[in-house]
Amino acid sequence: MEHVFPSDFLWGAATAAYQIEGAVAEDGRGSSIWDTFAAVPGAIVGGATGEPACDHFRRYREDVALLDELGLPAYRFSTAWPRVMPDGRTVEPRGLAFYDKLVDDLLDRGIRPLVTLYHWDLPQALQDRGGWCDRDIVRRFTDYACVVHDRLSDRVAEWTTLNEPFCSAFLGYGVGVHAPGLRDDGAALVAAHHHLLAHGTATRVLRERGGPGHRLSIVLNFSPALADVDDDAHRDAARRFDVLQNLFFLDPVLGRGYPDGLLADVAHLGALEPAIRDGDLATAATPVDWIGVNYYAPTRVVPLADPATPSNCPLPGLRGMDVLPPRGPLTSIGWEQHPESLTDLLVWLGNRCGDIPLVVAENGAAFADVVDPDGRVRDVRRVRYLASHLRAVHAAIGRGADVRGYLAWSLLDNFEWSFGYTQRFGLVHVDFATQRRTVKDSGRFYAQVVADNAVPAG
Ligand code: FCB
Repeated sequence: MEHVFPSDFLWGAATAAYQIEGAVAEDGRGSSIWDTFAAVPGAIVGGATGEPACDHFRRYREDVALLDELGLPAYRFSTAWPRVMPDGRTVEPRGLAFYDKLVDDLLDRGIRPLVTLYHWDLPQALQDRGGWCDRDIVRRFTDYACVVHDRLSDRVAEWTTLNEPFCSAFLGYGVGVHAPGLRDDGAALVAAHHHLLAHGTATRVLRERGGPGHRLSIVLNFSPALADVDDDAHRDAARRFDVLQNLFFLDPVLGRGYPDGLLADVAHLGALEPAIRDGDLATAATPVDWIGVNYYAPTRVVPLADPATPSNCPLPGLRGMDVLPPRGPLTSIGWEQHPESLTDLLVWLGNRCGDIPLVVAENGAAFADVVDPDGRVRDVRRVRYLASHLRAVHAAIGRGADVRGYLAWSLLDNFEWSFGYTQRFGLVHVDFATQRRTVKDSGRFYAQVVADNAVPAG
C-alpha cells in the first residue's frame, strides 16, 4: 500500500544563496552580514565561512543537471542581495545576470523556479546603518525586490519575500548565534516588526507590478510546543511559547495583528510598541497566495515555578518556562524526529490560514553521511526521516489541510550557518575539498517518490 498525493502536488528541493554559492568576491558581489559574522572567531564551528560552500556560483549548471537527473519538477533558491546590490542600493548587473542564467537553465530543463528574495544575507553596508532595526530597511528591501522581480518575473511565477524572519530577527539580533550576532531582545523585536513591514510592503508593490501567473508568499518556520504534562501550567507554558515561536509572524500576515498576550509578554522590554506605527499591521496583512511552512522538529516546553525566571528558549522576553532536551532519536544536529508534529502542525495551520494554501517549503534531516568505497551514500536514517515526514504530510492532507507542495531541504550538503560544514542535510553529498557531488540513497528514494507521486506505507 502506498500513499498517493494529489495529482497537481508540487515536488522539489530547496537551497539558499549563502549556503551554496561561494564566490563571495566574484563579479562585484558586496560583503554580507554572514561574511562579517563568519570572520568572528568562534562564531562558526571550525572557523568555516561561505567560501567555498558548494561553489554553486561556478557549478550551477551541474547542480541544475542534478535536479533534472532526480526528476524534480521545482527548485526553491534564494537570490543574494549583496550580489544584486553590493552596497544594498546600487545594482550590479553581473550579479543579476547570474540569476538570469540560472533561471534560464532551470526552464530549459522544465524545472519550475521558486525565488526567495531574502534568506538572511543582508548587505553589510545596510547593517552598518542599523540593518533590520532601521525602519528605512523597508524601502531598501522593496527596491531590491523590485530589481530582481523586474528582471525575472517574465519567467518566474513563484515569489517569496522572506525566509524564516524568526531566525533572521530573533537568532540574529536577540540570541546572537546568527549574523549580525547582536544580543539585544529589544532590538530583536524591532527587527522582527520591520521584517513584517518589509514583507507586506514588497508584497503590495510586487502585486501591483504583476507578472504571468505570478504568486506571492512568505516562508515561516514552525516548531509546535509539546507539553508533557496535561495540566494548566504546562498548557499555559506551551501556549505562551506558541505565541512567540509560531504566531508572531503568522498572525500579522493573516491580518490578525500581533497575537493575544504578546505585547503584554514583551512589554518589559519597552521596544516593540514604540516601533509600531499606524497602518503597519494593515501593511503586514497584505494578502499572500500561499504560506511556506518550514518544519524540522517540535519543542518540549515546561513551566518554571517562579514566573520571573528568564526562559532558556531563544525567544525575546519569554519568562517562566524552560525548554527540555529533545528526545531521541535525534538527527546529528540534535533535533528530535517527530513526524506526528508535522501532521498536527499542518492541520492546525490549515484551519488558521483559512483559504490560503500551504506549501512545505523546507523539511529534512542532518546525518553524518559518508561515501562508501563503492561510491554509494547509504543514508538509511534520512530515507526513514523523509518517508515518515512525507506520510505525515499525506495524513495532514487526509485530515483536510490544503497542502500543495513539498520542497526537501536540501538539494546539496551545504554551509549550515553557525554549524559550518558539519551538518549534512543534502539529498546529494558534497565533498567540500573536491566539490564532487554524489547522489545519496535518500536522493534516489525521493526521486522515486516524486516519480510515483506516492510514498510507500510504513
Ligand atoms: C532552516 C533554514 C535553512 C537551513 C535549515 C536546516 O532554518 O531556513 O537555511 O539552515 O534550517
